[in-house]
Amino acid sequence: MIGLSLEGKVAIVTGASGGLGRAICLKLAEAGCAGVVVGYRSNEGRAEAVAAEVRERGADALTVSADVGDEEAVQGLVAAARERFGRIDILVNNAGSCPIGTFDDTPVEDLDLAYRSILRSTFLCTKHVVPVMREGGDGRIVNVSSTSGVTGGTMGPAYGPVKAAVVAMTKYSAKTLTKDGIRVNCVAPGYIDTEMYYEANPDLDVRARRIADIPLGRIAQPEEVADVVLYLVSDLSGYVVGETVLVAGGRTT
Ligand SMILES: NC(=O)c1ccc[n+]([C@@H]2O[C@H](COP(=O)([O-])OP(=O)(O)OC[C@H]3O[C@@H](n4cnc5c(N)ncnc54)[C@H](O)[C@@H]3O)[C@@H](O)[C@H]2O)c1
Repeated sequence: MIGLSLEGKVAIVTGASGGLGRAICLKLAEAGCAGVVVGYRSNEGRAEAVAAEVRERGADALTVSADVGDEEAVQGLVAAARERFGRIDILVNNAGSCPIGTFDDTPVEDLDLAYRSILRSTFLCTKHVVPVMREGGDGRIVNVSSTSGVTGGTMGPAYGPVKAAVVAMTKYSAKTLTKDGIRVNCVAPGYIDTEMYYEANPDLDVRARRIADIPLGRIAQPEEVADVVLYLVSDLSGYVVGETVLVAGGRTT
C-alpha cells in the first residue's frame, strides 16, 4: 500500500471557499480524512458547497467562518474543530489576498492586507493548532507561499515579500516543531487557474506573456497543486522537513 492514505485524520484548511482551498479539501477527503474543516472568511454559500463535496467523498465536514488574521477568530476556528472532531492532525495555511500594483500605486494598506491575510494568519493558525497537534502526538502543516515568495514576483511590492516570509516561517516552524512530531513544509505555486489569477491578471496580453514564460505552456489546475499538498501531508514525504516545493510548470527553472 502506497503511504498516501490519510485514514482517520482531521484537517483544517483555511481559505477553503477559494479555488485552491477547495481542491485541497477534496483531495484530503479522497485520501481518507475522517474530518475536514472548511475555513472561510465570508462566502458561506461556497464554503457549504465545498463541505457538501467533501461529504460526497466520504469525510465529515465542518464549515467555520473566521478571519484568520484575527486571533480570537482563529481561536474560535481551532476550538470548533476540536469540539467537533476531538483532534487536529493536518493544517493547511492556504488563505491569502494578492494586492497588485507597483511602488507608485500601492498604498501601504495593501502591504498590511497581504501581511494580515498571509503571514499573520499563518502565525496565528500555527500557534493555536500546534498545542492540539502535540496532544495527538502527530501533526503535518503545509504553508502556501508562491513563486513570488522565492523570486520576488511581479504582482507588486506587497505580495512577494510577504510570501517570502512564509518560506522563512516554514523553516522556523520545522526547526522548532519537528521534535514534537509535527512536520512542516511549504508549497510555492506559480499561476493557478483560480479567481485570484484572473483578478490579478485581467489583461489578456499580460496573461499570454505569462503563459509564454512557462515551459509547460499553461497555468496549473488547482488539483495539480493540491496533489503536492497531499504528498506533503502524507507519509510519502516522511523525511521531507522545512522544504518549499515549487509547483510552477518549470517557470522558475
Ligand atoms: N492563484 C494563483 O495564481 C496563486 C499562485 C500562487 C499562490 N497562490 C496562493 O494560493 C492560495 C489560495 O489562493 P487561490 O488561488 O485559491 O485564490 P482565491 O482568491 O480563490 O482564494 C483565496 C482565499 O483566501 C481567503 N482569504 C483571504 N484573506 C482571508 C482572511 N483574512 N481570512 C480568511 N480567509 C481569507 C479568501 O476569502 C479566498 O477564499 C493563496 O495563499 C494564494 O496567495 C495563488
